[in-house]
Amino acid sequence: MDTERLYSDRARKMRSSEIRELLELSQRPGVISFAGGLPNPNAFPVEEIREIVNRILDEEGGKALQYGPTAGLKEFREELVRYVGREGIKAKLENVFVTVGSQQALDLIGRVFINEGDVILVGLPTYLGAINAFLAYGANLVGVPLDENGMRVDLLEEKIKELRQKGESIKLIYTVPTFQNPAGVELSNDRRKRIVEIAEKYDLLIVEDEPYHALRFEGESLPSIKSYDKSGHVIYMATFSKILAPGFRLAYVVASEEIARKMIIAKQSVDLCTPTFTQLIAHYYIRNGYMEKHIPKIIEMYKRKRDIMLEAMEKYFPDGCKWTKPRGGMFLWVELPKHISTIEMFQDAVKEKVAYVHGKAFHVDGSGENTMRLNFTNPSDELIEEGIRRLAKVIKERM
Ligand SMILES: Cc1ncc(COP(=O)(O)O)c(C=O)c1O
Repeated sequence: MDTERLYSDRARKMRSSEIRELLELSQRPGVISFAGGLPNPNAFPVEEIREIVNRILDEEGGKALQYGPTAGLKEFREELVRYVGREGIKAKLENVFVTVGSQQALDLIGRVFINEGDVILVGLPTYLGAINAFLAYGANLVGVPLDENGMRVDLLEEKIKELRQKGESIKLIYTVPTFQNPAGVELSNDRRKRIVEIAEKYDLLIVEDEPYHALRFEGESLPSIKSYDKSGHVIYMATFSKILAPGFRLAYVVASEEIARKMIIAKQSVDLCTPTFTQLIAHYYIRNGYMEKHIPKIIEMYKRKRDIMLEAMEKYFPDGCKWTKPRGGMFLWVELPKHISTIEMFQDAVKEKVAYVHGKAFHVDGSGENTMRLNFTNPSDELIEEGIRRLAKVIKERM
């Protein structure tokens, strides 16, 4: 059968995530993997969830196993309104809805906003899952460089002017402001304010994707971009994947009432509703103060792991390598001398039984071949040092 002929134009554009394929190699026995973006399984509150699940099944089993509203359970959304309120986001019930992971929210944005060729401005580098979600809808992704304070909003504005002059249709700016995946950097407060001004001036949307905001090891928490938004230009999304359990596939969006309504309509035909069961668990978890007690435990574990990785890099990495020192989140970003390709080096790394994700995967302009992303949250403390020692050996050989 000629399936190629049968595929839609949309399906032809779909790309398998390079990370997912690399993950298979990195899961070979004995390989120490810094490649995935996985939380540490020891950070999952298994016993607490067991207790809560029993309670929910006893008290409201009929509801837990039933279909629910597409926007999410009303009581859970009300809880989320309070939850985001603590971060300075003023939302009403109509502004908040629940999704199956923030990956679904990114896909819904594609469905609702992207026509073939529409420009989306993204960081250089940026989250690969967003790149793939937007490309599937035919977006033209244009990169804006980052520095240690996140996206260069001065260059962002220049890019917008340049693209407008060429008559391009620019729809939105996608950003992961806090402990960005993959670079680990934070968008400074000034830039958070400025990016809203730019969105208003040019009438563009901002997608603020915030999975790592709560995972801060040090420094003051910064206001969300959404908290500066008075005109409905910001679509904020956050997830329970990194602070509770990615297996719940639970996230939420805060947007203007109009945009929320449209995205909920799009979601209706995707899945009818987010599982009611996991919403009830997460709701119970927040309402009864478990979350407040749990997050500091994750922070303690991840901070320790970051420190072990940074110390090992100081000790083993050769001169000529640079890396970020993230103040939270799950990743750090490494820049090698220009002549080293982390794509070519990957085979050597797998032979040495260590894995990473090459940085080019996160660059929409094809640059970044001398960079890589390292995850420090998933490996055990002991394996982090050994993995960095192996990686340093591979780099030195290439140098
Ligand atoms: C920036 C960013 N957005 C979205 C996601 C997807 O998260 P979820 O598990 O909520 O779909 C991730 C996961 O790594 C991420 O890093």
